[in-house]
Amino acid sequence: MAVFLGIDIGTSGTKTLAIDESGKILASATETYPCYVPRPLWSEQDPEDWWQAVVASVRQVVDRAGLKPDDVKSIGLSGQMHGSVFLDKNDKVIRRAILWNDQRTAAECAEIEQRAGGRKNLIKMVANPALTGFTAPKILWLRNHEKRNFDKLRKVLLPKDEIRRRLTGEYATEVSDASGMLLLDVAKRRWSSKLLSALELDESLLARCYESEDVTGTLRPEVAEQLGLSPKCVVVGGAGDCAAGAVGNGIVAKGVLSTSIGTSGVMFVHSDEVKIDPQGRIHTFCHAVRGKWHMMGVTLSAGGSLQWFRNALCKADIEACKVSGIDPYEVLTDEAARVPPGSQGLFFLPYLSGERTPHADPDARGCFVGITHAHTRGHLVRAILEGVTYSLRDSLEIIDGLGVPVRQIRASGGGSRSPLWRQIQADVFGRKVVTINTEEGPAYGVALLAAVGAGAFKNVVEACQATIRVVSETAPNRAAAKHYDRAFPLYQQLYRSLRDDFKAITALGD
Ligand code: XUL
Repeated sequence: MAVFLGIDIGTSGTKTLAIDESGKILASATETYPCYVPRPLWSEQDPEDWWQAVVASVRQVVDRAGLKPDDVKSIGLSGQMHGSVFLDKNDKVIRRAILWNDQRTAAECAEIEQRAGGRKNLIKMVANPALTGFTAPKILWLRNHEKRNFDKLRKVLLPKDEIRRRLTGEYATEVSDASGMLLLDVAKRRWSSKLLSALELDESLLARCYESEDVTGTLRPEVAEQLGLSPKCVVVGGAGDCAAGAVGNGIVAKGVLSTSIGTSGVMFVHSDEVKIDPQGRIHTFCHAVRGKWHMMGVTLSAGGSLQWFRNALCKADIEACKVSGIDPYEVLTDEAARVPPGSQGLFFLPYLSGERTPHADPDARGCFVGITHAHTRGHLVRAILEGVTYSLRDSLEIIDGLGVPVRQIRASGGGSRSPLWRQIQADVFGRKVVTINTEEGPAYGVALLAAVGAGAFKNVVEACQATIRVVSETAPNRAAAKHYDRAFPLYQQLYRSLRDDFKAITALGD
């Protein structure tokens, strides 16, 4: 028996799953952990929590699927992108990791642009502008604000690559996740020595960079024993969660776009060439498909907006649901389904963590606009689903504008499991939205990469063709789509109207 594991170190938890050679899922397990917000718009996690979640979830999967150590041939790793794990000379974590949705580095982004000789030059070097969530600004932030920690720094690893180090003892990364560090020459798929020297950073800080399906090491014997696996088990490069999710959705050829609604929301298209948005609104990163690229737009608080609403305002429902066994999200979306499209004039801007695409504005804030006495909780929830979907449409319009063909939209991620949110997507995009046979996202994508690395498939495209098919279609409702077409420009205008006020709010301080 040949089994492949996919492990996704997400923001809300780590998910591990096992597949066989036909791509069938044998077992899966998820372990959650906290996210720390020491100040508004900061976001941190403890890498030790990820490791404990990896150990627990792998052991559960091994147990549930009844796997013997030799069954598992390879592991693929995926994870939240851009996070910075700072290690000292003894591989000790120096401080909590700073995450992708942290907004503390506006000054460092300006410093990077200036050191690179301007925004245009920077985009030439690494295909993207400096954005607060990316990794390079976090390294500079450490140098500028925690000098003593910076002096101890020997390696900077991405979240999944820290797990790889603990699994294999290797410092390794791969091109898709490395693209989001802002230190990779994305067109050439190798570290940008030009930018590194402009930033006065040594390349020895970084891990060795592989293609996603390449083998990067084998399990350390003591770890293999702890996990119930064999020390012969190999670990492949894997991918950042966006590219991994795209592989798990079969986005490995031209013309197919995925929308993924997890904590963040991602619009992702495959590209055979390196295409760069000259305005830097959309990211151009290496794909997990050897020698290919992708473009994506990211809304920072997608499912995260609904999660905030549930946690901050629905405590009693959460308790009641523990007794009834119903998912609190179902209670909320049922209420939203009774509200007409457009939420009777209520808008929601999902900028709870600032925003990346299209505004690249760390000061942006979330807000409801247009509340009246007529509005109920269902209206608030529907407005959140609509606001997040408008923000995805912002990315879709940029992708369309760059002439990247989009023939099919595949909806994925926790948010797309809701039929209501899928319908809102079809209506807001004015296009059919389809789903596929697996809903496992990044963990499934890297399990497929692991299978490719172990030789079960010739390449990623073949692995996707063998395992992924469309199973449902949601067509847009004409009247709703018409309403959203009229409302969307107003949604866009609200950000422009409030932009300066957001800055003034930041200037007020905490
Ligand atoms: C992608 C991004 C997020 C995280 C979330 O650029 O920042 O999607 O990867 O996990």
